[in-house]
Amino acid sequence: MSRISVHDKEFELFIDEGSIRQRVAELGVQINRDYKDNPPLVIGIMNGVFVFAADLYRVLEGDVKISFVRLKSYEGMTSSGNVVSAIGLEEDVSGRDVLLIEDIIDTGRTLHHFLPELRKSNPKSIKIATLLFKPEALKFDLKPDYIGFEIENKFVVGYGLDYDGLGRNLSSIYQLVV
Ligand code: IMP
Ligand code: MG
Repeated sequence: MSRISVHDKEFELFIDEGSIRQRVAELGVQINRDYKDNPPLVIGIMNGVFVFAADLYRVLEGDVKISFVRLKSYEGMTSSGNVVSAIGLEEDVSGRDVLLIEDIIDTGRTLHHFLPELRKSNPKSIKIATLLFKPEALKFDLKPDYIGFEIENKFVVGYGLDYDGLGRNLSSIYQLVV
């Protein structure tokens, strides 16, 4: 299906399932190569990342651990401004090479608030992998190390990303029709 509706909005097919799968595999190759001798501790930022995390994690090789934190910065279709850390980290990150994974970096506010928190636990290094990146929306000084797709500043749903709680179960990524 190339056109769908979620709540009151229309979305059209933007990145299909196969293209996502291929890109995730490519990211995996890159990450495996970069962390060859020191498998990272992967930290996923919930909720949106769970689909990407599941796929990316299974292409990573070696003794890779994964853990999740929950921070929330989004209500509806505009960033609300407040990032609240609700579920803390269970893994000990001190001295670890941390790979933070996000479904999408929009304004960058979420990571901007979380990075100083994470640094307090003294990781050896921190890198950022995001499936989607909206460079035009970025308001904070952030540079993802691994980017699945750079996209224009339009709202998207699917593959874990939601519009007010719905759309996460779509296998492809759909863009808002305006
Ligand atoms: P940031 O803090 O502004 O970078 O936003 C990050 C979070 O906002 C993401 O992890 C998503 O949960 C949400 N978000 C940003 N853009 C979109 C979008 O286009 N669709 C769905 N969720 C989005
Ligand atoms: Mg998210």
